[in-house]
Amino acid sequence: MPKLTIEYQSYPSPSELPVADQELLEAATAALPNSYSPYSKFRVGAAACLQDGTIATGWNTENAAYPMCLCAEPAALAAAANLRPGMPVVAMAITVKSNGQVVDSPASPCGSCRQQLSEHEARFGHQMRLILRGENGPVYELRSASDLLPFGFSADLL
Ligand code: THU
Repeated sequence: MPKLTIEYQSYPSPSELPVADQELLEAATAALPNSYSPYSKFRVGAAACLQDGTIATGWNTENAAYPMCLCAEPAALAAAANLRPGMPVVAMAITVKSNGQVVDSPASPCGSCRQQLSEHEARFGHQMRLILRGENGPVYELRSASDLLPFGFSADLL
């Protein structure tokens, strides 16, 4: 039977990361206080690293009409596009902070975000590394956002 596997790197703590990735994760953490999440009380911060090294951040923004919530990842993509239209985002750090519990395992993007990150990769023909962390604990690094979306829907079918 065919089998799909994904590879990822696990670092025990952010201090084990290359300095540039530590800084990207710090930028995602610094974005957390901007989160507007009065309903879930779950903050998400994302930091997008553009190809020229510029960093753009995003955070989740909720709404009393719940489905209208904006996730941190597309917010970071939009902020990056605003700074450097037409330039690929080559890495994104994502972190979270919950009011209810200490999240000590890496938080992974939701399905909708995976679709959007994956399309960004396809559009720009460039992989986007993901650096994922909870509030504490280990850091996971994935080579490509699309690794999180096997058998994803793509424009090839349209
Ligand atoms: N959220 C994100 O910002 N990104 C994700 O990938 C998953 C979920 C936000 C949406 C909502 O504001 C809160 O986290 C709880 O679901």
